[in-house]
Amino acid sequence: MKGLVHLMLALTAGSVAASPLHDVQTPLALARHGAKVDLINELKKAEIIPQILDDFVPELTVAAFWDHATAEVGNTVNPELTQKRPNLQLIDYISDDFVATTRSLLEPSVQFTVALTDPDAPSRDDPKWSQMCHWIATNVSLTEMDSFRDLLSTRPYQEDNALVETQFSKGMVTIMPYKAPGPPPKTGKHRYIFVALAPKNRTTETLRLVKPSDRQYWGYGKEGKGVRNWAEEMGLVVVGANFVYAQNKKQ
Ligand SMILES: *[C@@H]1O[C@H](CO)[C@@H](O)[C@H](O)[C@H]1NC(C)=O
Ligand SMILES: *[C@@H]1O[C@H](CO)[C@@H](O)[C@H](O)[C@H]1NC(C)=O
Repeated sequence: MKGLVHLMLALTAGSVAASPLHDVQTPLALARHGAKVDLINELKKAEIIPQILDDFVPELTVAAFWDHATAEVGNTVNPELTQKRPNLQLIDYISDDFVATTRSLLEPSVQFTVALTDPDAPSRDDPKWSQMCHWIATNVSLTEMDSFRDLLSTRPYQEDNALVETQFSKGMVTIMPYKAPGPPPKTGKHRYIFVALAPKNRTTETLRLVKPSDRQYWGYGKEGKGVRNWAEEMGLVVVGANFVYAQNKKQ
């Protein structure tokens, strides 16, 4: 427990490289995950709740990491670093103030889906083309925090995430291929939101998920339509989220 608190404090302090994380071999891929992050509050501050998602109870942590960038609940990433699809891992863990809790309420054999949406197309001020569906992946496995750390620590501490690739996202099935964030010039910061979804009825059966007919408006043909509509149609509910900001160099 002492180690865990130490870890959380280190993570809360921010800089991974300068923290004593080498000791516990927490890689950049985890970054702020496991730190005290009031996810719902962050989502509200970014107006993701209620604009894009309804209020929900987080039941897992969404780890999403590119080779040289990690989603850390509202950090800004350079879109040049997000060209390749990120690795994903859903972790059976949520942080709750300074009491870290590992929860096993979720049945790991449930089929989990992760979607990536941009509600700020072409810009946050003028989202007339939103939402834009950037990615839908399903059969994303749920792992416990300890196994996740173990997986990562089979290699020495890394300065970037590139080396951990291929160990994650095993068995993942693409529904909508990944389209890298490409915020146009002079459109400010876009929010790119990873949304973890699980079947509302918690069935462990294989789901028949339908690919949206278009990326724009998620195929629903109207401004503002998106992940909420698709999830509802597929019988899915939100169980976790993460997000980054990205903007074009030219502003
Ligand atoms: C889903 O992932 C598991 C591994 O986690 C794999 O065994 C299974 O074949 C995958 N299902 C599909 C439909 O690819
Ligand atoms: C549970 O929900 C899924 C997805 O909407 C659906 O395909 C399935 O038939 C439902 N199962 C039961 C037992 O209601």
